[in-house]
Parts: sequence; C-alpha cells; structure tokens
Amino acid sequence: MKDSASIKKIIDLINADGKHASYQELPAILRNSYGDLLKEMNWIPSRLDIPRLKWVIDSLNAKKINKIVDIGANTGFFSFELMKAFGATCTAYEPHAPHAKAMGLIKEICNISDSDLKIENSGVSLNDIENLDGGDLLIFLNVLHHAGDDFDRDKVGALSEWSKYSVNYLNGLSCKFDYMFFQLGNAWKGSSSKIFKDKIFFAETKKMLEESGWIIESVGLIENFLGEPRYEIRQLNSSRGSEDFFREIHGFRKFFRYCGNRISFNVDYKFMNRPLYLCRSATKKA
Ligand SMILES: C[S@@+](CC[C@H](N)C(=O)[O-])C[C@H]1O[C@@H](n2cnc3c(N)ncnc32)[C@H](O)[C@@H]1O
Repeated sequence: MKDSASIKKIIDLINADGKHASYQELPAILRNSYGDLLKEMNWIPSRLDIPRLKWVIDSLNAKKINKIVDIGANTGFFSFELMKAFGATCTAYEPHAPHAKAMGLIKEICNISDSDLKIENSGVSLNDIENLDGGDLLIFLNVLHHAGDDFDRDKVGALSEWSKYSVNYLNGLSCKFDYMFFQLGNAWKGSSSKIFKDKIFFAETKKMLEESGWIIESVGLIENFLGEPRYEIRQLNSSRGSEDFFREIHGFRKFFRYCGNRISFNVDYKFMNRPLYLCRSATKKA
C-alpha cells in the first residue's frame, strides 16, 4: 500500500541522523490511521507533544488565528495540528533536510495544498527576521537556546552574548506576530553549561520576553506528577505575587531533578522542566 511505504519512509526520515532526530509525534490523522504500523516500528516520542498542543489550544481560547509561522518546525507536528485546529495557513521553517522532507511527505499524504502550507528547508537567523512574513501566531519552541551552536555562530561566540542576542531576536519577532507560543531549553551547546542558573531560569526568561516586547498571557506547567503529564494554564497576574510563582516553578524544577530518571513516563524529565509560554505582542502594529 502506497501510504504504508510513505509512513515507513517518514519514520526513517524522522530518525535520520541529526541533532534533533526522533523528536516529534506524527500528527493525529496519521497516528489514527496507521497506529498498528507505528507500534510495529516501535515509535515512542517523548517530548510531550500532545500535552503541549492541548495546552496551547486551550490557552489561545478560540482566538482568531489565520496565519501561522513555525520556526524550527522539526517534522511539523505543531504546524499540522494548529493549522487544522484554527483553519489557518502556515509557513514552516526547518533547516534539517530529512525533517523538512518528512514534513513534505506528511503534507502529501494529508492532501494539503501549497497555498495552505509552505515548507521552507532553511533556518531563520537574526538577519532574516526583518524580511520574515509575519502572522497571527508564531510557534517558536526549543530553538533559541541553540543560537551560537545550530545557527548564528558568528553572533553568539560565547554564552555571555546569548541574552543580548536573544532579546534582539525576540524583539524582531514581536514586531511581526500577534501571539507567540514559546518554549526554551536551558543548556547551551548541548552540554551542561546552563544559560541561566536553575533558580533564576523562569525569572530571567520572563525578563527577556518582557524586554523584547512580549507580554506573557499564560504559562504552562506540569503540576500533577502522578498521572499522565499535563500542562496547567497559569496566569502571572493571579492574586499571588509573581515572586510566589517563581518560587513554585523553582520547586517543580527541584522536584524533577530529584526524580531524575526514576520518572516512569516515556518523557525526557529535563524536558518536563521547560515551562510553556503564550505571549502577546506589545509592539506589533495592526
Ligand atoms: C529542539 S528541536 C525543537 C522542535 C520543535 N520546535 C519542538 O519543540 O517540538 C529544534 C528544531 O529547530 C531547528 N532549527 C535549528 N536552527 C534553526 C533556525 N535557525 N531556524 C529554524 N529552525 C532551526 C532544528 O533543526 C530542529 O528541528
């Protein structure tokens, strides 16, 4: 069957060599139709894609989203699912050729037209932002901490340069998009050198987003460690002060470190440490 061969090819491309291989789930339409085949292939994604998706759809709370851009689309899980959820068009940027190709095959199986989904097999560097086509929603997940390593090595030669660079990058984006779904890792160059000390990771991320023209509308945290992982929607402007909020997040992070690999879900526990953010632009002109 033609589609089964395509699914096998897609899985091969997802697993193809590369730093961010074997990362995302397949979109629901393929999981539902080819579940048995996927079981056979022993495919176990571990980046909480489905809980991340549910969180952002709930957080966006039926806002009008017509035009999406996904920077660092990987194999397109969020592009496909959010296009479908909002009836939107999407442009996806993914520099790793096998992943962009996998996304192209998924697009073909799902009969998605070129006018609805544009896949660019290229990255977005700081200098590209000025000419980037904007939109209603930017998906920008787990890319920025790779600056200086995966891209813009000439601009971020040392970790000390990362924060200023990132404020510039995020500021460029805040002039182009109404909303941004954002997530950030805390390791630089894949090693144990942290971008921020754990204790201040949340506070510094918040400061960085605010300095670059973004207002945080909600934060997603995993709070129930016993059941299936699920991100809760938390508002920063709740009656508790934001200091309490920082303390809580730091508490969760400590808990994850303590649990380490003993957490039994198919999840990378470090990944669970990364809050989700839905941000609204304070600078984009209508
Ligand atoms: C850690 S993965 C995150 C994937 C996805 N955004 C997610 O969170 O599920 C980072 C992705 O960004 C891509 N990438 C790296 N540098 C990029 C750049 N300058 N512009 C766009 N994508 C980039 C990588 O190839 C990889 O697919």
